[in-house]
Amino acid sequence: MRDRGWILGAFAVVLVLVTWPAWRAVASAPPRRPDLPRPAGATACVAPVEFMRASHMTLLVQWRDRVVRDGVRTYVDSDGRVVTMSLSGTCIGACHTDKTKFCDRCHDYAGVTPTCWNCHVVPPAVTVAGGVR
Ligand code: HEC
Ligand code: HEC
Repeated sequence: MRDRGWILGAFAVVLVLVTWPAWRAVASAPPRRPDLPRPAGATACVAPVEFMRASHMTLLVQWRDRVVRDGVRTYVDSDGRVVTMSLSGTCIGACHTDKTKFCDRCHDYAGVTPTCWNCHVVPPAVTVAGGVR
């Protein structure tokens, strides 16, 4: 019976090792959503938020094709406002004026690296948003 302590100890170690994945899952809380400040002064995006969350990349590519292939630069948004189809000028320059706190924060979170900025300029961040142009 002198080995009893060792046996119980070994049993405890094995038990912890076997259930380790479950403990880890309990200990690690679900990842926090990124904090994405909305543009000051603007009340709505060019399309509903749900659409933009899922399909902003599709809209941007449509904008690009309209500008580059058709020479059309204005877009009537879902609220009837006329905006200039411009990635740097409208999306960043006029609205989400700090790309690092909006686009980059979510893309870093999601592990996405759009290559648009190889060509398109990122306007310097300003603190006060100018509204949709
Ligand atoms: C190889 C360089 C290059 C890359 C990479 C690139 N673009 Fe462009 N893009 C251009 C050029 C050149 C124009 C035409 C600019 C003009 O006529 O005003 C343009 C125009 C646009 C326009 C319309 C005009 C404007 O000022 O925004 C949009 C929108 C656009 N691109 C989106 C994108 C997106 C989104 C990506 C990434 C997925 C991207 N582009 C990647 C070169 C590039
Ligand atoms: C709420 C999160 C979120 C925000 C904010 C966000 N994006 Fe994205 N974006 C994504 C995700 C997720 C993807 C990848 C989707 C996929 O691969 O299906 C993506 C993909 C893209 C793509 C396509 C990249 C490619 O290589 O095809 C472009 C372009 C893009 N985002 C531009 C922007 C711009 C510009 C902004 C800021 C004005 C922005 N996004 C803000 C989540 C976000």
